[in-house]
Amino acid sequence: VKGVRTAAMARRPSARVAVVGAGTVATAVAVLLQRRGHEITGIWSRSPATLERARRSLPSPAFDLDAGLPEAEVVLIGATDGAVEALALRIAPHVAPGAIVCHFAGALGIAPLGAVASSGGVPCALHPVQACPDVATALRRLPGSAWGVTCGPDVQPWATSLVRDDLGGLPVVVAEGDRALWHAAAATTANGTSAVLALGEALLAALGAADPTAVLNPLAAGVVDNAREAGGGAATLTGPIARGDTATVALHLAALERTAPELRAAYALVARAVLEAARRAGRVDAHQAESIGALLGSA
Ligand SMILES: NC(=O)c1ccc[n+]([C@@H]2O[C@H](COP(=O)([O-])OP(=O)(O)OC[C@H]3O[C@@H](n4cnc5c(N)ncnc54)[C@H](OP(=O)(O)O)[C@@H]3O)[C@@H](O)[C@H]2O)c1
Repeated sequence: VKGVRTAAMARRPSARVAVVGAGTVATAVAVLLQRRGHEITGIWSRSPATLERARRSLPSPAFDLDAGLPEAEVVLIGATDGAVEALALRIAPHVAPGAIVCHFAGALGIAPLGAVASSGGVPCALHPVQACPDVATALRRLPGSAWGVTCGPDVQPWATSLVRDDLGGLPVVVAEGDRALWHAAAATTANGTSAVLALGEALLAALGAADPTAVLNPLAAGVVDNAREAGGGAATLTGPIARGDTATVALHLAALERTAPELRAAYALVARAVLEAARRAGRVDAHQAESIGALLGSA
């Protein structure tokens, strides 16, 4: 019965939404919801500077969390992972019966929202699989992104509809126990890509290249487009390791030793990951994998 009431409340033409912790993602989500006709009834954030920054994108009233919550069928907890549980505890006594309380932490399911559930709220974990350094970028990138949705079955139709219809995203239901691995996949892709770009930039800087990003950005964009157009990273791997070209890898290692020995270990680490991907994709045979692996193992 609670689930039916919750879904009915949240599907009002305009749901009332409160923001608790005006992080980048929550602020962008609130802006997108406001654009879709939902009403942002209040924003709270721990620091005045964050609150003011959020209110520049979201002209909604600030509220005092010590005094409770504004009227809301949906509460967005937008703080960092480590603060979600404490904020859930803090708002639990004020959450309206049947109100849906969401957080955006990829590695967490609904367990940290237990206090909210105990006091009649409905917990929901929504994880945008996107890199959002600031609100403006988030507003551009969230539509079209996938979202990991973890919640009880009664609220799942609401959550998937919110993601698909209000946020323009792709909802993917993730089991409570799978959230950490789900997040590991997202973090590896996002942060691994940035770290590998940073390594390429450092290698070119070691040569004295004037503008490493001008050299590498079109390459990076091309690699990502290849993966998007032709079945992902495993299907579109190119380069000497995927070709089983041990001699070229040996040249790389020797050049690194001469010019940028401090980057050799990082190169070898990435090359081992490339070799492992090439092996899993059946791009190198056992003999090639062994000889390149031996070369890298000594790096
Ligand atoms: N940004 C992304 O690319 C991205 C992508 C996917 C998922 N996420 C998830 O989204 C959530 C929020 O990340 P974000 O990047 O949007 O946040 P953010 O812009 O880094 O802001 C996080 C906010 O958390 C608040 N906060 C931290 N500790 C707090 C505490 N103890 N009590 C109250 N508030 C506290 C801070 O508020 P004050 O400044 O007011 O102190 C801070 O502004 C995280 O769970 C993150 O994993 C982020």
